[in-house]
Amino acid sequence: MMEAVRWLRCDGVIVSLPEPETLAMPGKLRLLDQTLLPEREVYFCVDDLPELVDAIRRLAVRGAPAIGCAAALGMAAVAQHYPEDPAAFGAALVRDAEILASARPTAVNLRYAVERILAIFRQEKTADKKTALACILKGALDMLREDIQLCSAIGRYGADLLPDGAGVLTHCNAGALATAGTGTALAPVYAAAASGRRIRVYSDETRPLLQGSRLTAWELHREGIEVWTICDNMAGLVMREGRINIVIVGADRIAANGDTANKIGTYSVAVLARYHRIPFYVAAPYTTFDLSLADGGGIPIEERDPEEIRRGFGRMTAPDGIRFYNPAFDVTPAELITGFITDRGILKPPFSLQGYL
Ligand code: MRU
Repeated sequence: MMEAVRWLRCDGVIVSLPEPETLAMPGKLRLLDQTLLPEREVYFCVDDLPELVDAIRRLAVRGAPAIGCAAALGMAAVAQHYPEDPAAFGAALVRDAEILASARPTAVNLRYAVERILAIFRQEKTADKKTALACILKGALDMLREDIQLCSAIGRYGADLLPDGAGVLTHCNAGALATAGTGTALAPVYAAAASGRRIRVYSDETRPLLQGSRLTAWELHREGIEVWTICDNMAGLVMREGRINIVIVGADRIAANGDTANKIGTYSVAVLARYHRIPFYVAAPYTTFDLSLADGGGIPIEERDPEEIRRGFGRMTAPDGIRFYNPAFDVTPAELITGFITDRGILKPPFSLQGYL
């Protein structure tokens, strides 16, 4: 018998879950394993919590909005295996939500997504499992659709900053692979290109995990946009040579004063941009703002396995017996940021609940 599965295809997050009405049937979250790009395009299915947490931790799915969407949809897939008893169902959901929210600490989108699903579930006050699953799935799909809209809005606002022939420098991957839509930092590039402008993108390689050269270059090239990959230590030179008109990066968490956590190396790029008098923009949806933090000092920074540096390219890239420091993110002070390209327009801090969210 054919499985009644609806496929919803996006880049960073690919979903195959049954329609809410048929949730009795097993549904799975289908993800593109980004660790294998650009060599191989491999998809895998997830419907249990350890697999989902592992996929997020090892960066099979990555990028702040994509992690949030994957977590929300993953909650729906995982919850299918919960008990029928309403109290036991609710307890399992709360327990797994906390485990999921802690899978990676820096991107606030993850906790935001998990808490949004929990809030929807609590509000529904549903007594039977079938309705509970349907409301979780609807909440998750709504988030996915919303993320697509948020990316489009960022693209529309940001495209105004990109005249024909513009040279854009970006760091890490904040494109389609990192969201459910066209990305954050890359959304303006896609929007400008769609309106016929020729845009050149310089993509920092982004050591140690090479999201810039593996992912940003892959997706831009696939869309026919001119992309040059440079090693991280070349950014200063390409700025000095006059190749860069604007820097646009994504964000993992933005504090109320505008301090912004993003992939390690972003801070260095911002310092270089200031020296060369090049505008430096952060592109992010409202789901990446954490207004509970006054400044960037409170942003938790993920530290990752030293092996990522020690065996950078599948071989030893440093000797045994030495120490490593491998923070995955850094915080760029607000004073280095020209503006924030958001789904509500181009904004400047300070951000407040009244003024923004
Ligand atoms: O460790 P990653 O690959 O998840 O880091 C991703 C980034 O730093 C992105 O720039 C950020 O999440 C924004 S994605 C739209």
